[in-house]
Amino acid sequence: MAQFNLPKNSQVTEGRTWPAPDGARNLQTFRIYRWNPDDGKNPRIDTYRVDRDDCGPMVLDALLWIKNKVDPTLVFRRSCREGICGSCAMNIEGQNALACTMGIDECKTPDNALPFLTRKDKDGAVRIYPLPHMPVLKDLVPDLTNFYAQHASIEPWLQTETPAPEKEWKQTPEDRARLDGLYECILCACCTTSCPSYWWNGDKFLGPAALLQAYRWLIDSRDENTGERLDGLHDPFRLYRCHTIMNCANTCPKNLNPAKAIAEIKKMMVEREV
Ligand code: SF4
Ligand code: SF4
Ligand code: FES
Repeated sequence: MAQFNLPKNSQVTEGRTWPAPDGARNLQTFRIYRWNPDDGKNPRIDTYRVDRDDCGPMVLDALLWIKNKVDPTLVFRRSCREGICGSCAMNIEGQNALACTMGIDECKTPDNALPFLTRKDKDGAVRIYPLPHMPVLKDLVPDLTNFYAQHASIEPWLQTETPAPEKEWKQTPEDRARLDGLYECILCACCTTSCPSYWWNGDKFLGPAALLQAYRWLIDSRDENTGERLDGLHDPFRLYRCHTIMNCANTCPKNLNPAKAIAEIKKMMVEREV
């Protein structure tokens, strides 16, 4: 996992095991990645025991329980608590997911989870890490600066040449329906940070989230900048580093399919050349 300002040769170490709450009988163990760039120490894994009888059903409920009742220094992002803002994306048991929509009882290591994100000896603990292969700012908070810049680079807004109509740009219901499965993206970055091509070429390959949005604007019947948009993507890295590995579609918490959108862009590239 990429880090900012880590000490040389740093490794993730075993951290503190926090005491279980007094009298709790229904305990769930969480093992959580901790790193503070200001203390000069290695990243560590802290162990917490959460009282399930005093905590809501979601992973985010457990994180809030820990922060409010055990360790106020634990840092993570969250806002809406209902799968809309995308800010609570993290790696839970080897799978990128939204902490607010992932039930604690659903946390099972998938068969295809990455070996370095899982442990061989299953102990019933839920392991939580930041989104993989992104620089970490603190604990579970990744730096998404590059991710947002890549989204901005596809110019995600309506571009037209004809004069604006008096009231609104109209679309037929059929044309509007073509945007279904695209506009719902919440920019959580679960897909992009699960993509092996992005891990190795994240500075040049746009990644599945930005490309899904690129396609959303390419097929908008009101947009008049299709040619320039395709020109901007015609590059060995920006688009063509996708090798159809499909991690992106498997991980998307909104059930979107960036791999399909990318394949459609490649098809548009071919069609305009014949
Ligand atoms: S299909 Fe393409 S974008 Fe999606 S994970 Fe695979 S290589 Fe990445
Ligand atoms: S496509 Fe899905 S996983 Fe990717 S950023 Fe959008 S909502 Fe998140
Ligand atoms: S807190 Fe908004 S998506 Fe989880």
